This record gives sequence, C-alpha cells and structure tokens, in this order.
Amino acid sequence: KVDEDVYYVGSRHWDRPIFDELLELPKGTSYNSYLISGSQKTALIDSVDPCKKHELLRNLDVLNVKNIDYIIANHAEQDHSGSIPAVLERYPQAKVVTNEKCKSLLIDLLDINEDRFMIINDNDTLSLGDKTLQFVFTPWVHWPETMSVYLVEKKMLFTCDFFGSHIATSKIFGPKDEKLVYEGAKRYYAEIMMPFRKNIQKNIQKVEELNPSMILPGHGVVYKNPQFIIDAYKKWISDNVDNEALIIYISMHGSTKELVDYLSDALIEQGVYARPYNIAQSSLGEIAMDLVDAATVIFASPFVLAGVHPKIITTAYLANALRPKTKFAGIIGSFGWGGKGVEHIKNNLTNLSVELFEPVYIKGKPKPEDFKKITDLAKQIADKHKEIGILG
Ligand code: FEO
Repeated sequence: KVDEDVYYVGSRHWDRPIFDELLELPKGTSYNSYLISGSQKTALIDSVDPCKKHELLRNLDVLNVKNIDYIIANHAEQDHSGSIPAVLERYPQAKVVTNEKCKSLLIDLLDINEDRFMIINDNDTLSLGDKTLQFVFTPWVHWPETMSVYLVEKKMLFTCDFFGSHIATSKIFGPKDEKLVYEGAKRYYAEIMMPFRKNIQKNIQKVEELNPSMILPGHGVVYKNPQFIIDAYKKWISDNVDNEALIIYISMHGSTKELVDYLSDALIEQGVYARPYNIAQSSLGEIAMDLVDAATVIFASPFVLAGVHPKIITTAYLANALRPKTKFAGIIGSFGWGGKGVEHIKNNLTNLSVELFEPVYIKGKPKPEDFKKITDLAKQIADKHKEIGILG
C-alpha cells in the first residue's frame, strides 16, 4: 500500500546486471506498476518487464483484483508495457488508455489489437468515481510518446521513466541514505535522460505547476518529498557546469598515462577538480554521471592499429550520444611510429557544443617539452573555467 486505495504491484529485479545490453545496474532495478482503486473504476498504471509478468499477476491476485477497467500506458518501452498483453488477457474488459503516439508504438511492439485502446489528449481527465486521473504529456523523457498521469485528489504524479532510478529496494520510499537515492537518480538521468535535457526543462515546468505531493516513477523509489528530485533535476538540466575536468584515458605502455597523471596534477595545481578515468577498468555509468556537470572533458589515447584506441572511440561516441552540457574538450596522447585518429575523435563529438583545445600528441615517452605543453593545456583549461566564472 502506497496510500489509501493506491497499491504498488510492480516487481523488483534485484539481480539484473545490465540494461539495453549497455548500462550496468549496480543496484539492480525495479519495474513499478501501481493500482488505483476508485469507487467505480480501477486503473493500473503501467505494467512490468515481461520477464516479471508472473509477479505482477500474482500481486493482483494477492489484492484480489477482480476487475481492471483501465491500463494506463505512460510509455511504450517494453520494461513498462511488456506485460500489458498478459493483463489484457486476464481482464478482457480492460482498455489501454494512452496517447496516439504511444498506441501506435504499442501496436508495433506488442501487437495489441486496435479495439483495446482508449485515446486521450494532453490534460484530459478520466473519472474512477471518487478519483480523477489527469493526463499530463511529458514528451521525450526519453521517447517521443512519454507522458505522466496525475491523481488529482491525492496530488500524486506517476511519471514512468521520468525521475526514475535503477534501484531495487524493498523500501518503496527509498533507503534513509539520501546519497544513495541521489546517486541512483543521477546515474539514471546521465545514462537515459541527459540527451533530452532541453525537453526536460519544459516538462519540469509542467511538473512544478502541478505541485505534486508525491512523485511515483516507473523505476526505483517513490518520492514523498518531490522537491528533492525536482531540485536535483533542475541542477542537472541547467546550463551551469562545475569546475571539473574529466580525463577519459587508456594507455598501453604507460606514455599516455604519464601525460594524464601530469595533466591531473597540473589541473589540481591550477585549482581545477581533475577526475581521470581509465576506461580499461572504469564503469561507463560513473563516467556518464560525471559528464552531467563537468565543464571540460579530455580524451587521452595512444595509437594502435594505425589509429587511436577503439575503446576511446567507443567512449567518445557514447559521450557524444549523451549530449552533456560540457563546454570545453581536448585530445592528448602518445604515438610510436605514426597513425591517424585525432580527427576520428573529433568527428565523434559533433553533438557537443564544445570549444576544442589544440590537441597535444607526442612521440613516444613524454619529454620535458611535452610536459610543458601539458602544463600549458592545464593553464588554458583553468583560464576558460575562470572566463565562465566557475573558478575564482
Ligand atoms: Fe524504463 Fe524507457 O523504459
């Protein structure tokens, strides 16, 4: 029970290791589905990943749910929609209530029959008797059809992926440790929502106007204090960056690492927070989290197979796809006998509105004149951070 007549019927996936075969899930995840029981009608808000449909159906049995009138589909992605066909089969009179775009995706993805849908528009309401659902379109978090639903009388906002976090916890309202909740939500934002930062800015405004008493996402914890997550999102989606330089590197024989270590020290000396990540060992999720706020990102790579290291290209590609608000970028590294590739990194950063520093590529083991170039780069980074007012 989340509140009077509002029940959690979702599923925790404690041991799911990865999402989209890309994103690590160090805390597992959950697929949150909610049942709202009105005096006349009953609504299910989203379903669960198909691998957990038996848990959803069992939860409905436990609550002795004889009838579901409406299945609200806030989002067509299968981790929320994938068990809708099973619910439709169990409750033959139920209608899938969603927007036109979501309906079209659900037909494509799940082959749901056209006559099982009820189409709603932005701000439409649906009565459950003593309770009212209001549909609030919140597109592009992170698909085009995404929406939220507002339980008017209780001021509860069901947001699906929006404000979600990949955390499996037996505490619906989250563990006491706010840092855990914050970091889970930040990782989720970084990996899934960040490319849609501008759309989220508009959606946050809509959410604030509603002034919800509770935010109930489709993954992770329910927020009894919505301002906590709204304020966190406002920081992440703002144009403000932190005085931080990420150095994403890989090194084969140590020369590139020497440059990275020297640059980190030089940045610290200049008052810039440096965060090197050796991508041979680092988690992409942690890099994504740091990309949320960092003012500068540096890619550091040796040459191999006559080009920069493929792992650096992969990470640059991912950073480019995540579209962080990073303002400055640089490329450094070491080569032995030659090769091309600086352009290859640059070509993978086209989505970023960054000012690029002059690349520093050196031959072999770094020499005093090479370290001098790195010192100069650190100084340029610090100067830029001063220019935009994040370094005193
Ligand atoms: Fe949690 Fe976009 O699905």
